[in-house]
Amino acid sequence: MSFTIAIDGPAAAGKGTISKEVARIFGLAHLDTGLLYRATGARRLEGMSPIEAAEALRPEDLEREDLRSADVARAASEVAAIPEVRAALVDFQRAFARRQGGAVLDGRDIGTVICPEAEVKLYVTASDNIRANRRWRELVSKGATTSPEAVLADLRERDARDQARATAPLRPAVDAVLLDTSEMSIEDAVARACEIIRASR
Ligand code: C5P
Repeated sequence: MSFTIAIDGPAAAGKGTISKEVARIFGLAHLDTGLLYRATGARRLEGMSPIEAAEALRPEDLEREDLRSADVARAASEVAAIPEVRAALVDFQRAFARRQGGAVLDGRDIGTVICPEAEVKLYVTASDNIRANRRWRELVSKGATTSPEAVLADLRERDARDQARATAPLRPAVDAVLLDTSEMSIEDAVARACEIIRASR
């Protein structure tokens, strides 16, 4: 039997860490769907057509070292607004979600478009300033030189584009449980996510 957990939300709200931990704790496979758009965006930056890049994407492309950069993040959110790019990535995500033993998928449209039948849907948020601060500390710890203000501007631009696009915009599914991590440590956020999941199993 397949068991799917859909975790959506804006950038740097904590969904990546929560998803990884939840997958580990419940013994489920995990797919960070942002990587599909990042890998497509990276190809776009190299001059490839985004639709062709999405259609030709292979699992090993998700392992590229440069997918976490700010340039790739911006390119990802640009290609993610193209309906044909999104369409090219649907089957891979749905097949992953149905795998034996269950799966956790995190992204922007998992609960609304990719897996509307998911057994559990979480929508993870945090205030803009807190998200920007977390992402800024993460970037600086990896050696990047940037300011919290620049990171905040970047996140806001990306969220606005993700929320405004016509195809699969970022928004909570009607049956998603909201998890605001603004005042929570990452441990508390993971514990709360686990409670919600156990309650719906
Ligand atoms: O989650 P992450 O920040 O890696 O995603 C990068 C970009 O990919 C997002 O800003 C969004 O535009 C796009 N994305 C999407 N749908 C998903 C996952 C990511 O549109 N399911």
